[in-house]
Amino acid sequence: MLDPIAARGPILCVVGARPNYMKMAPLLRALAAEPDRPRTLLVHTGQHYDYALNERLFADLGLPPPDVNLDVGSGTHAVQTAEVMKRFEPLLDAHAPSCVVVVGDVNSTLACSLVAVKREVPVAHVEAGLRSFDRTMPEEINRLLTDQVADLLYTTERGALANLVREGIDPARVHFVGNLMIDSLQAALPRAVAAEKTLAAEGHPPGAIARGFGLVTLHRPSNVDAPDTLAALLEALAAVGARLPLLWPLHPRTRANVERFGLADLLRAPGLICLPPQGYLEMVGLMKGATVVLTDSGGVQEETTALGVPCLTLRQNTERPITVEQGTNTLIGRDFTALRAAVDAIVAGGGKRGRLPELWDGRTAGRIAAHLTAWLSSARAAGVRA
Ligand code: UD1
Repeated sequence: MLDPIAARGPILCVVGARPNYMKMAPLLRALAAEPDRPRTLLVHTGQHYDYALNERLFADLGLPPPDVNLDVGSGTHAVQTAEVMKRFEPLLDAHAPSCVVVVGDVNSTLACSLVAVKREVPVAHVEAGLRSFDRTMPEEINRLLTDQVADLLYTTERGALANLVREGIDPARVHFVGNLMIDSLQAALPRAVAAEKTLAAEGHPPGAIARGFGLVTLHRPSNVDAPDTLAALLEALAAVGARLPLLWPLHPRTRANVERFGLADLLRAPGLICLPPQGYLEMVGLMKGATVVLTDSGGVQEETTALGVPCLTLRQNTERPITVEQGTNTLIGRDFTALRAAVDAIVAGGGKRGRLPELWDGRTAGRIAAHLTAWLSSARAAGVRA
């Protein structure tokens, strides 16, 4: 049976990389508002460490400074995952947590889940069951394995359940709660920074976007890690930029590869306005003000759906099919002719407007917090570690 003292241990909430913060911020607030206020400890693995990818976002999202920072930094997948595991395990000895909460699909998500499950600490995975069915994506491996070992699987869309059941996961572990990203988005909207202001702050004339703009985000290895692919993408963006100015906050991985492959000239195409990575309030303002968003990010596909802004996803697949079926998302893959045609259609007044998916209502954090605290105090929690 579960040791009753251990059952009262803190909830370890893990973040590692940028997209994790938007999910954890509202959840921490909701856990703090629960009647019996379970203790939480925020653990940052340090996977992302640049100011713009890290502290600035913490401030924008109202995330408290982490209680623990594991400072793992960058590395190959093996090195990064192993470092997180090695540095996370002692926390389980030091704090005897009642549970570990992980979000999303980054290397830190899988690393901490693996450590916890082998120490018989229950794992709750937020954003479970999403599948691109593309095992060349590192995130797909992280999703598959995290879901296999998690005790509680909180899903953002109903279709995730079928994915999990197909993989042999007991449906009793799966809980459809909605999308935490939208909680953060709704909280930030009133404070969103207008695109013109962001542009001016970066030293560009705001008049450059007086007749509309597109927003670009690209960082997936499949798009930016091979020189030919990246060069073709940059040329396609230059062609789109000739019709509609494109604002592009460059992810450090993308910037590093552009320089490494000698492609910096292509970034200077007229109509391409490159920016450093932006804060969350700036990004929300850029997405909200954009005519169209071109992206390979998972979170941006969801945020544009919630904002009703057309999104063209530069990937062959998406693990978030609801954004295509109900939202504003269109998969473009590498068909750059289709990309230009789609941008033209949107500029001419077309483009998907979509509707808000079920439970993307800004109240997901409260649902998870209520369920998790009830689960922890129930006999079922004891069963997991029996
Ligand atoms: C990671 C996640 C990805 C997520 C993305 C959001 C994995 C496998 N990938 O990808 O799912 O969508 O974060 O940004 O976990 N770097 C910096 N500063 C930093 C962090 C990284 O310059 O603070 C550079 C380094 O050169 C590093 C590279 O970016 O090698 C990649 O960083 P990494 O965290 O491994 O993956 P991301 O591409 O950021």
